Amino acid sequence: MITNMLTKNDQLLEQQNTRESNARSYPRRLPMAIDQAEGIYLTDMDGKRYIDFLAGAGTLALGHNHPAVLEAMEKVLKDKRPLHTLDFTTPIKEQFVDEIFECLPEEFRKNAKIQFCGPTGGDAIEAALKLVKTATGNRSILSFQGAYHGATHATMSISGNTKPKEKIQGLMPDVQFLPYPYQYRCPFGIGGEESHKISSQYIENLLNDPESGLLAPAGMILEAVQGEGGSIPAPIPWLKEIRRITKEKGIPLIIDEVQSGIGRTGRCLPLNMQVSFRMFLYYPKQ
Ligand SMILES: Cc1ncc(COP(=O)(O)O)c(C=O)c1O
Repeated sequence: MITNMLTKNDQLLEQQNTRESNARSYPRRLPMAIDQAEGIYLTDMDGKRYIDFLAGAGTLALGHNHPAVLEAMEKVLKDKRPLHTLDFTTPIKEQFVDEIFECLPEEFRKNAKIQFCGPTGGDAIEAALKLVKTATGNRSILSFQGAYHGATHATMSISGNTKPKEKIQGLMPDVQFLPYPYQYRCPFGIGGEESHKISSQYIENLLNDPESGLLAPAGMILEAVQGEGGSIPAPIPWLKEIRRITKEKGIPLIIDEVQSGIGRTGRCLPLNMQVSFRMFLYYPKQ
């Protein structure tokens, strides 16, 4: 029988193919069924070992099944701590918030608020979009070419990649895409240092020009380091300019750090912004 000739890996993949929808991303390119995981290594069902450069899409900073993480999880189970509390608080949750706040610059910490969204990055961005719309009463969102903010209806609307949008009509309207300061593939065709100056000048002009066609936006969202767009760090002077412009115009600035945050770029960004767990949000005081 043909099925008997399939390896264990192939069998599970075939099962997955027949039972799961096509809305899968990584398995399309990495046909493997994972059996075990330790540190940086993954072992598939046929015993083949891989170095896991994906690291759970960047979420497993300590690798798979790190002893410290296992110990903490075991302790929670042994101590009969609740595993689900909706948004009620617990001592462990408060300790977690303490530790997150301790990471923030002091000035920043004073006004910082944390929001526990759903578990995904897309959920955090959705929450930010709702927050800025509620706070301003405005509806349009300024986003950037090359941005990736998720695959939900609204987060796909504010993401740059047009391919997944082609078949989904009527995504969230009122999204204005702006040029990201990509020095290598400069949207203005000049590259180098000048490109970020032109980008911020362009954006400031757009926001000041009563003939720009743009109504006052609910917020601006950007990745300080674009991830899916190609690991593109925005120049710090550009970020500071964007912060100045949005502050002066009273536009809430959402910094999406779902991919780059919590030390994954090596150090904290030297910007003074408010923080939520998976995402920075700066809302200027009116
Ligand atoms: C910058 C950024 N924002 C948002 C998301 C969405 O996160 P999730 O896939 O957890 O919804 C991602 C995911 O890669 C991301 O890189």
